[in-house]
Amino acid sequence: MKKLVILTGAGMSAESGIKTFRESGGLWEEHRVEDVASPMGWALNRKLVLKFYNDRRRQLAGSEPNKGHLGLAALEKYFDVHIITQNVDDLHEKAGSTRVIHLHGELTKARSTKDPSLIYDIGYNDLNEGDKCDLGSQLRPHIVWFGEAVPMIGEAVKITSEADIFAVIGTSLNVYPAAGLIEYVPEGASLWLIDPNDVPVPPGINVEVIKEPAGKGVEILAARLLAIK
Ligand code: APR
Repeated sequence: MKKLVILTGAGMSAESGIKTFRESGGLWEEHRVEDVASPMGWALNRKLVLKFYNDRRRQLAGSEPNKGHLGLAALEKYFDVHIITQNVDDLHEKAGSTRVIHLHGELTKARSTKDPSLIYDIGYNDLNEGDKCDLGSQLRPHIVWFGEAVPMIGEAVKITSEADIFAVIGTSLNVYPAAGLIEYVPEGASLWLIDPNDVPVPPGINVEVIKEPAGKGVEILAARLLAIK
């Protein structure tokens, strides 16, 4: 089976009712990144940070995967599909995808502020001040904040460098190291990009653009990949 590697961003979940970050009306218009998604924000106002992610988690509880997520899961029948997502939602898993790497963490998990290897499943429940890990320290959202290391990037680079087909879906490619993964796609692999808006790709990279939202775009991609499989 050919290895199909997919890099997804917020646009992947837009049709599930989840806001993107940088578009007009996006999350970073309503909140300052440094207040809610940085170690400094956490140090200055834990309550605000916890509320921000509690709100996201509550919204996720009522969200369903869209046609795009479902289409990617269905492709596992024909390809060795690996999803590398910047999204912290669980919609790829809910759709049935079995190999998903979360570069920026997961809303449904919390972790110890003392020992980052202590990670807990919290489902769609709120995380509050006073919720502690087994070592007695405050739990924080299991999210990679701006300025923090991205522990899963090594594995993502390895998988990307083994791709026969690589597709980018619903990301503005503004945030590194995720955006840099495209540079690791082997020469000879086919590269696809699905986004209803223009997304700048590094010069010299040959990419087939499907200018559609994720739902329709994945349908087109699947038809084209299956035709040349
Ligand atoms: N289908 C596909 N793409 C869409 C759709 C849709 N229905 N709607 C919007 N998009 C596209 C936009 O055109 C844009 O290119 O999704 C992209 C969203 O870009 P961003 O808001 O910048 O989100 P993303 O690239 O995922 O952000 C990366 O930044 O703030 C951080 O940690 C956060 O993981 C996030 C990272």
